Amino acid sequence: MTEARDEAWRALTLHPDPTLEELFAADAERVDKLSSRLELGESGILFDWSKTHLTAELLGEFESFAEACDFPEMRRKLFAGEVVNPTEGRAAEHSALRGVGKESSVEEAAALLERMKLLVEAIHEGALGEVKHLIHVGIGGSALGPALAVDALSRDLSLVDVHVVSNIDGVALEAAFAACDPATTWIAVASKTFTTIETMTNAQSVLTWLDQNGVADPSGRVIALTADPEKAVEWGVDETRILPFAESVGGRYSLWSSIGFPIALAIGWEDFQALLDGAAAMDVHFRDTDGRDNVALRAAFADQYYTRIRGCQTRAVFCYDERLGLLPDYLQQLEMESNGKSVHVDGTPVEGTTAPITWGGVGTDAQHAVFQLLHQGTNLVPVDFIASIAPGDVLDPAHHRILLTNCFAQGAALMAGGNMSADGKDPARAFPGDRPSATILCDDLDAATLGALIAFHEHRTFANAVMMDINPFDQFGVELGKKMAKDIEGGEADFDASTEALLKAAGLA
Ligand code: F6P
Repeated sequence: MTEARDEAWRALTLHPDPTLEELFAADAERVDKLSSRLELGESGILFDWSKTHLTAELLGEFESFAEACDFPEMRRKLFAGEVVNPTEGRAAEHSALRGVGKESSVEEAAALLERMKLLVEAIHEGALGEVKHLIHVGIGGSALGPALAVDALSRDLSLVDVHVVSNIDGVALEAAFAACDPATTWIAVASKTFTTIETMTNAQSVLTWLDQNGVADPSGRVIALTADPEKAVEWGVDETRILPFAESVGGRYSLWSSIGFPIALAIGWEDFQALLDGAAAMDVHFRDTDGRDNVALRAAFADQYYTRIRGCQTRAVFCYDERLGLLPDYLQQLEMESNGKSVHVDGTPVEGTTAPITWGGVGTDAQHAVFQLLHQGTNLVPVDFIASIAPGDVLDPAHHRILLTNCFAQGAALMAGGNMSADGKDPARAFPGDRPSATILCDDLDAATLGALIAFHEHRTFANAVMMDINPFDQFGVELGKKMAKDIEGGEADFDASTEALLKAAGLA
């Protein structure tokens, strides 16, 4: 940390911590000051951070701190396509796929997406024969985004039945086989590197299944989604069926690229474009808005406050929308793989905590399972609630009304606290209150909204990384375990006594 940073940080830690109740009592305009809307054409999203402990003073200090961390310059570099991932010498150009970034990268990305569009439309028009099912094999960033978007956006109408399979456990693939007719099934092999063992093994097993079920040319059914087309050719994919994307697009930031092929196949190109456009609206907001008015930066201020000043070890996300059931999983990779680091950009150790553990679920289910700890446990857990004003169902409106009232009631209860016993004294029925939450309220959960929501979290993650002076775009922490598994496979195992005994017990050594 530079001196200016240290000083700005010290100023932040010296603030008193008024309670939420005190903050609301002191400022009648608190909600207006800490809420803002992102407009997305016909719809929009409200970001309400008023139930957090951010104050005007804290926001001012955080703005100075972000300046001292070179946030404006780092943000400029991000959108200019300059190197922001120094350990791998790469830019991070996911926003170029949405049309926001360095001009040449935006043009290249548009050309690649045009190629994908042609293939998607050809399939929809029947030019490749009957394609009813797609088995999309990929893992991590090559699966979580597609799975989330397909699940969120194609419930009413799916143009092609998509099954995202990630786990190497054959049980996952068998479930997809059981749901697909081999005669009308295609396979997307999604891997940035085209070397990931889970994906390549699963892909091979899909080919075997097609072959065993009478498909004459299983390889002809493969579409490769990758940043390494040569590897795909070596693996046997026809060059015309390879949809490449740029090396500068990180795995967990790649759903906007050809990795999003199954999304476009399921929801159609127009909606896929809307997903990109929604993300672009958030890009432009994040790029052009300074300080507390920038919704992703403001959220990162709260994240820094709770994690690094109040010592919160986790942050939770509860989606009061069944369609967003996979969002917590997606955010886990985005936030924990990006910011779960212990060293600064220059390699020196970070003092204190970096990324909190991201976890969550769907409301109201989670209320009946884990909210006990949020209300009365000893951990302080900042919570994000995400909901949509428009319902995703056409049942009795009571469903959606109860869903939303519960969402808002939980935020209010966490903040207010109280005692639910008759005499107001029973400690077992006491709620300490003053527990923070933020609410992201969408007008509707359409494709543009989902795009903006995901881009909001990408930029929030980036802003957090800049304020911790860490590189959010590498992920070396996943490598050691992978290498050891390979060593076992190659018979080179020389492990600790416990691991040796486990290998023996399982008949693997
Ligand atoms: O092991 C972690 C990781 O490298 C992720 O970062 C990535 O999203 C995932 O594996 C899949 O990688 P690939 O797309 O190269 O198969």
